[in-house]
Amino acid sequence: MRRAAAGAQPERRPGKLCTLRRMTRKIFVTTALPYANGPFHIGHIMEYIQADIWVRFQRMQGHALHFVCADDAHGAPIMLKAESEGITPQQLIARIAAGRQRYLQGFHISFDHWHSTDSPENTQLSQDVYARLKSAGLIYRKSVEQFFDPLKGMFLPDRYIKGECPNCHSADQYGDACEVCSTVYAPTDLINPYSTLSGAKPVLRTSEHFFFRLSDPKCVAFLKEWLDAPGRLQAQVANKAREWLSGSGEQGLSDWDISREEPYFGIPIPDAPGKYFYVWLDAPIGYLAALKSYFESGKARANGEQRTFAEFLAAPDTEQLHFIGKDIIYFHTLFWPAMLKFAGPPYRVPDHVYAHGFITVSGEKMSKSRGTGISPLRYLELGMNAEWLRYYIGAKLNASVEDIDFNPDDFVARVNSDLVGKYVNIASRAANFITRNFGGELRYSGDTEQLAALAAAHAYQIQQAYENREFGKALRDIMALADRINHDFDARQPWVLAKDPAKSADLQDVCSRALHGFKLLTVLLTPVLPEVAARVAQQLFGLTREFRWSDAAVLPERINPYRHLLTRVDPKQLDALFESDAAPAPARTAAAAPANVTSAGVLSAGDAPGQPEISIDEFRKIDLRVARIVQAEAVAGADKLLKLTLDLGNGTRTVFAGIKSAYDPGTLQGRLTVVVANLAPRKMKFGVSQGMILAASGQTPGLFLLAPDSGATPGMRIS
Ligand code: MSP
Ligand code: ZN
Repeated sequence: MRRAAAGAQPERRPGKLCTLRRMTRKIFVTTALPYANGPFHIGHIMEYIQADIWVRFQRMQGHALHFVCADDAHGAPIMLKAESEGITPQQLIARIAAGRQRYLQGFHISFDHWHSTDSPENTQLSQDVYARLKSAGLIYRKSVEQFFDPLKGMFLPDRYIKGECPNCHSADQYGDACEVCSTVYAPTDLINPYSTLSGAKPVLRTSEHFFFRLSDPKCVAFLKEWLDAPGRLQAQVANKAREWLSGSGEQGLSDWDISREEPYFGIPIPDAPGKYFYVWLDAPIGYLAALKSYFESGKARANGEQRTFAEFLAAPDTEQLHFIGKDIIYFHTLFWPAMLKFAGPPYRVPDHVYAHGFITVSGEKMSKSRGTGISPLRYLELGMNAEWLRYYIGAKLNASVEDIDFNPDDFVARVNSDLVGKYVNIASRAANFITRNFGGELRYSGDTEQLAALAAAHAYQIQQAYENREFGKALRDIMALADRINHDFDARQPWVLAKDPAKSADLQDVCSRALHGFKLLTVLLTPVLPEVAARVAQQLFGLTREFRWSDAAVLPERINPYRHLLTRVDPKQLDALFESDAAPAPARTAAAAPANVTSAGVLSAGDAPGQPEISIDEFRKIDLRVARIVQAEAVAGADKLLKLTLDLGNGTRTVFAGIKSAYDPGTLQGRLTVVVANLAPRKMKFGVSQGMILAASGQTPGLFLLAPDSGATPGMRIS
């Protein structure tokens, strides 16, 4: 490599590129901690790609980045899920944690450390923050009346309570709002409420809770000031938070209930037996626990940071920055800064909280239960290139909180036309001339100083866009530059020049300029395409390190022969990605069961000895769903049948079931069971039966309805 000014003043680089490099920033960056109850979905990966592009960009500027994340392991849903699987919460979160690296490496997410909120660091820090808030007079106790499930023996979070809407009387509405008439209410307003965990009727019970006094005037005053700091938050986010802070109308900010009763999977509150911190108290502290563990593991030192965790955190020039989704703004712009502020040093308040919108797929909200969305694992398993997705998501992202859409056709078009058609194309065309005709040597006719200055100006413009998280703009500008480079190359018709030995210097110049342009583009794309960029740096330009931002304005002198960089997306891969019902499972043969599971639909339970073997695909044709029996009644004139009204999550159905001999209709109400949902409706004497519920029977008398384990909800698919 040689500098633009032919070595005369090696440090003289054109103006503005250097301005942001004067001091090394020390930045602690996190993404939101994903719940440890399942593998990553495309929304998580999108968030990590956004943060990773920004982090890699900053590292290229020479800044010191400490980029950490962790599993958010606590809370009732994780406890209940583990229970339903018959394992401990620790086993569940260990299993989820073991799967994380595959995704992170697969998508080139460069976290420096990954930790867990279920860790000694988090216990210690959470208890410490709590003790400090208590000393600051911001914690108090208050009795709270809440629904309790007498069968499960636990207080019920609102999402586990359903009942009849007090307004429109629709059945099976959640504890906070009616999905039919949109009325908002308290769970105590529901008519005939039931616990979705056990079906039991919840009872009101009083217990003592701990509250964080967010309404305290000093909290409110601090938050006002924090929210108003120019440039700290996106305007939209700051406005939303200010709205919450001043409260709509009469009431301002309410205090925050930070405790939960056992059984709970969480961090014990010191000196309060049986009480735990609510998961949202310890989760953000998990950011700091991850940072602490990163420091104590020696990784921070290896990353050039010699100070201790506490010294680093307390230092005035440390920056703390969180990338989050729009759904958790409240926690990050009110609770979290207030907690940190009043815990006091070495804790520091966040310098920035950057919120992004949600990713939709072909305009649809992704839903795990309906199986829409893109499985990031399937993407990798299909051998699709992670950098395609990084580029596509990068191109869609900007600094706003708007949602972005993944559209398969758009994905194919953009990746193929931009990355392959515009970017890679330059190198593959220009490099061959240089290798064949000039032994790999680049030579420029004309003013190289000017060429370098121009490159620096481009780099500066793109730098601003990355810095401000305007990745879509950065990538648009980069592609406009690629267009110009292609255009200049074509305009001089190198393939014609190559035929005329007298035009050799011209040919070398046009190809050298194109390759300089290609190197510039690659430097600018490095935050988005780290793997491709590393190969370009090493293979094509013979560098022994990765690109830095300052390489943008350095004209290359030589290249190695071009090697393939990136393939086009095949639209068939997108078809495979969207094929329903993910992985083809190996065929299984059903083990002979001691009792048959038979239909209790229209016919009474049969007891066929066994059935011929079927393939997994045949089995898959049966749409088995969890259903709640909303109503059960005897049918006049039928001595075996009960008429059941079933909630399948998306509406109700009527099913006639031959279970009258075994069940008193009154005992069935509220119970969960299993229904064959895609059975052709059958017209009967008493009405149409729209499905079939399942029950077991054997040699001995009795008929036994199937029931899913606790935690299942109506509409869930059984497979
Ligand atoms: N555990 C909490 C965060 C605690 S942070 C101290 C949580 N977890 S989550 O797994 O539900 O979400 C993790 C992140 O993914 C959040 O920032 C959330 O906004 C983001 N996303 C979840 N679905 C998303 C999309 N569909 N699109 C983009 N991001 C989305 O919330
Ligand atoms: Zn209603």
